[in-house]
Amino acid sequence: MDKLVIEGGFRLSGDVQISGSKNASLPVLAATLLTEEQSFIQNVPSLDDIRTMSTLFQHLGVNVQTNGDELIIDARHISTVEATYDIVRKMRASVLVLGPLVARFGRARVSLPGGCAIGARPIDIHLKGLEAMGAHVLLEHGYVDVTAPAGGLRGARIIFDLPSVTGTENLMMAASLARGDTTIENAAQEPEIVELAEALTSMGVKISGAGTDRIQIEGQECLGPLLHTVGPDRIESGTFVAMAAITQGDVVLKRVRADHLRSTIAQFMKAGCEITELRSGIKDEKYCDLRVIGPNQLRALDVSTAPYPGFATDMQAQLLACMAAAEGTSHIEETIFENRFMHVLELLRMGADISMHGNLAVVKGVKHLSGAPVMATDLRASASLVIAALKAQGISEILRIYHLDRGYVKLEDKLTGLGARIHRVTQK
Ligand code: UD1
Repeated sequence: MDKLVIEGGFRLSGDVQISGSKNASLPVLAATLLTEEQSFIQNVPSLDDIRTMSTLFQHLGVNVQTNGDELIIDARHISTVEATYDIVRKMRASVLVLGPLVARFGRARVSLPGGCAIGARPIDIHLKGLEAMGAHVLLEHGYVDVTAPAGGLRGARIIFDLPSVTGTENLMMAASLARGDTTIENAAQEPEIVELAEALTSMGVKISGAGTDRIQIEGQECLGPLLHTVGPDRIESGTFVAMAAITQGDVVLKRVRADHLRSTIAQFMKAGCEITELRSGIKDEKYCDLRVIGPNQLRALDVSTAPYPGFATDMQAQLLACMAAAEGTSHIEETIFENRFMHVLELLRMGADISMHGNLAVVKGVKHLSGAPVMATDLRASASLVIAALKAQGISEILRIYHLDRGYVKLEDKLTGLGARIHRVTQK
């Protein structure tokens, strides 16, 4: 297993390219299962989670070709509608094939994801939605077996108990090939939902309200090819904001969506960062370069995670690592997942002063973090350890970095380009 070795204490500076969004690519990939035509997706990040989805597709009998950062997908024929345990346990988002498979082929059998490092994460919201569309759901042998009624899924009015992101995506895809109209209320409003809506629109689906809590989808009898270019990853962007912040850095994130980063930008500015949107030379006004200058001393914050547009749970670990080295006491509350503080125990090993009170972390900033061997436990927790290591005195070794490879493209190369002392050690 590979590990990262980081010597802390170096200021980051320079430009960094932000890759395509992982969490936008996965549902867009799943949506290609809705059509018999060949689909083309560009700016797909080269990440283990994307490779896991490609493996699942190949297992389904779908042809996936990679051409640089483009994926060309041909789902005309499939050989099975089953997503097996060995794939789903690697990546929970495999559950995104459920909606499209049931909608197009009338049946899907997907392993239940089970527990994961950051909490129970059930899929009841996905299943209730499919049932509202007339599907029959059977849970047995650790699998969920979903069958569409004769004549296919029917449009329905679905009201979510919680605004589940992948739940919203699964049902948007299912509704795209259902008979009649579907409304999803209390829908998730994340930017990835808007991207999926754009991709489905390219196939001929009529969708309104994506990005609000009420989405309407007009089902179609059959769909054309999916053509989409994936937008920049807002969590990778936020992670580099945190890295610049903690190292007193001066970093320009190239071609990002500042509108997707509002709550992250607001919190890091409150903590003392100077953050500027630069637009010169960028034609498309949706994008900008983001310059982040970290202060001599970060200030403490009180932050609760919340669904978009609130502060993202996927940025909680990175912010917490920064607060471990800030002046004053921070209160960081996790409201989305019940067990998402695995990084805290590792940060304590680096000299952080953090106490846990249920879902609230009380973080007393310390003057110095110290390098230590630490263990990555999940994707964003791993990123938080890298952030702490960039600041810590001495050498840190981060073990089990396969988690990082799931969600960050060439992290050590990008950090080296910014002046960090970091290298990967490949271990057998
Ligand atoms: C997605 C993101 C993940 C992010 C999360 C929250 C992808 C591939 N993953 O995960 O990075 O951390 O959104 O922003 O996009 N819930 C239920 N029943 C369900 C579904 C969810 O109770 O059927 C609960 C979950 O346990 C959690 C909350 O709803 O407490 C939100 O989860 P959800 O939005 O579904 O997260 P994911 O879509 O899995």
